[in-house]
Amino acid sequence: MQSFGLIHFFQTHIAPMEIVSDLGQMQDICMRARIDNQKIALVPTMGFFHEGHLSLMRWARLNADQVVVSVFVNPAQFGPGEDLDRYPRDLERDSSMARSLSIDFLFVPYAADLYPEGFDTWVETQKLSKFLCGQERPAHFRGVTTIVCKLFNLTMPRMAVFGRKDRQQLLIIKKMVRDLHMPVDIVGLPTIREHDGLAMSSRNAYLSPRQRKEAANVYKGLAMIRQEVLSGRTDRLELESLLGNYYRQNIPGAVIDYIQLVNAETLENASRADNNTFMAVALKLGRTRLIDNIELGQSTEDA
Ligand code: PAF
Repeated sequence: MQSFGLIHFFQTHIAPMEIVSDLGQMQDICMRARIDNQKIALVPTMGFFHEGHLSLMRWARLNADQVVVSVFVNPAQFGPGEDLDRYPRDLERDSSMARSLSIDFLFVPYAADLYPEGFDTWVETQKLSKFLCGQERPAHFRGVTTIVCKLFNLTMPRMAVFGRKDRQQLLIIKKMVRDLHMPVDIVGLPTIREHDGLAMSSRNAYLSPRQRKEAANVYKGLAMIRQEVLSGRTDRLELESLLGNYYRQNIPGAVIDYIQLVNAETLENASRADNNTFMAVALKLGRTRLIDNIELGQSTEDA
């Protein structure tokens, strides 16, 4: 039994990673894998991998027969004046990192194929996409849900893996999948942090050394709030103002976009912190937008 498992592992994982750009080819490969009863996991990314991405890929490798990692900097989720042009890219480095994790396919589609002349169909989760980041980035989540839906259609995964740092994105994708009966399990994995607590993000590469040092306080403030909640302080307005003061003192260069205690499913303001709430923040440090969040109950996964 054990040796069969080993043979099966080598049969499915010994092939070198393939880089696929053609949409039809990706779809054919995945269609054949599905007919062969292979469980496909998709890890959608915008590339410039860090340990956060790698943790998603490792999970996918352990839980699926075929792992597809997509790398696509999706223009539809960037607003005017945002960082689409300077978003960090390094496909060579990404490929070798993915290869070292025995990923089966690196899917690197072209924008001109995904959004050809005349493209006019959007997928939008109406309510959830208006809160938090949706206030400052009104078309962002429509771009995310549209590309994720396309990637699902192109790779036909049984499961797709996302990080909980982008918690609003994760909720919105789960909602899209439920509302549209998409046959995909959405897996949300914990935020991976630097040694000082900063949530890993490709955008951290923009930070100057001084900003990078200050940025660690984004999470330190959230951890402080969690401690306050555990010691009995639960009023939303009190907690939000405590965190605002902490950021003004400890990240004086930052512009606070939002600090909000929200219900973990609806994203509406919660009046008190409890097991079903999280504190979400977004700050601009120079030209870099940082987001993070923390669960606030006794039994949290992100503590
Ligand atoms: O989280 C991201 O990197 C992107 O929003 C995603 C899910 C790959 C869609 O472009």
